[in-house]
Amino acid sequence: MSGKIVTLQRHIMEQQTLHPEASGRFTRLLWDLTLAFKLIAREVNKAGLVSEILGAAGTHNVSGDTVMKLDQYAQDRIFKAMDHGGHLCVMASEEVEDIIPIPDQFPLGHYVLLFDPLDGSSNIDANVSVGTIWSIYHRKSRGRQGSLEDCLRHGYEQVAAGYVVYGSSVMLVYTTGHGVAGFTLDPSLGEFLLSHPAIRIPARGKIYSINEGNALFWDAGTQKYIQYIKQRDEATNRPYSLRYIGSMVADVHRTLLYGGIFLYPADCKDPQKPKAKLRLTYEAHPMSMIVEQAGGRATTGDMRILNLEPKSLHERVPLAIGSPEDVGMYEEFFSGKR
Ligand code: AHG
Ligand code: MN
Ligand code: MN
Repeated sequence: MSGKIVTLQRHIMEQQTLHPEASGRFTRLLWDLTLAFKLIAREVNKAGLVSEILGAAGTHNVSGDTVMKLDQYAQDRIFKAMDHGGHLCVMASEEVEDIIPIPDQFPLGHYVLLFDPLDGSSNIDANVSVGTIWSIYHRKSRGRQGSLEDCLRHGYEQVAAGYVVYGSSVMLVYTTGHGVAGFTLDPSLGEFLLSHPAIRIPARGKIYSINEGNALFWDAGTQKYIQYIKQRDEATNRPYSLRYIGSMVADVHRTLLYGGIFLYPADCKDPQKPKAKLRLTYEAHPMSMIVEQAGGRATTGDMRILNLEPKSLHERVPLAIGSPEDVGMYEEFFSGKR
């Protein structure tokens, strides 16, 4: 960390000066979101200690209250932190089937918030890193409340995107379209402090990250690519090392800092109906904006992720994301050029 101590709040305010038209509403929106992340971080941190929190959703604790799973807790915190501030006209979450309206009693704003409250939640019980992913758009619709139309957007329309990794320390990484900055939570102060200014992804890495248990069901291009980067070739830094956590936030965070490539290709068991896993709106779009802002790339194999417009809220998409040279090489294999 440099000598200058910069809190997340100060950084957000300084970013605001890059937008002379800004009213300060967007700044307050990000502050409110940050509070939700701190609350989630506190619960995630206690998860190993508090058995009620680890219980499956739908079970009851001693007082008969319904026990919340951590991803429902995270969903609830973000909703409660964001429903009344007057910044948003609508929200949508991976945990909720339909769009989430702003309750009638609260004022409406001009922004739209999409989020994955807890990513990698199947890892929680083993104390493995999980995260939150979020993305913000300007509203598009004209009615009083926001609508589905406000949530089904091209990734390049994002005004801001970010994630929090609840790992060995808690880190928040975000972009408003002017590069990427990373902050580490100082638990004693309760403040996120700038620890990673102006993050740039290495042009090329030496780590690949993919659930290799699915190899049989990958398309031929992906199979060939993964074979290729596992071969020995000192001139080009191969063989690559494999790292796969199974929490997209943590896997992409490592990729952003160390370089390399993270992939979740489609399952082509039925070649007529390839099935992707990761969600375009809550996972692929925000992570792609962040990685592109850091100088990286994100593709389905033949299309830039940020150019995609979802047809439905929970649409899934194949994803290859990371260092520009690694993603470029993947595209060559995917298209059959190599
Ligand atoms: P979520 O916990 O939000 O449902 O997302 C899980 C995702 C993502 O975090 C991760 O990259 C991927 O699922 C792991 O999937 P596999 O277990 O199939 O590898
Ligand atoms: Mn997820
Ligand atoms: Mn999730």
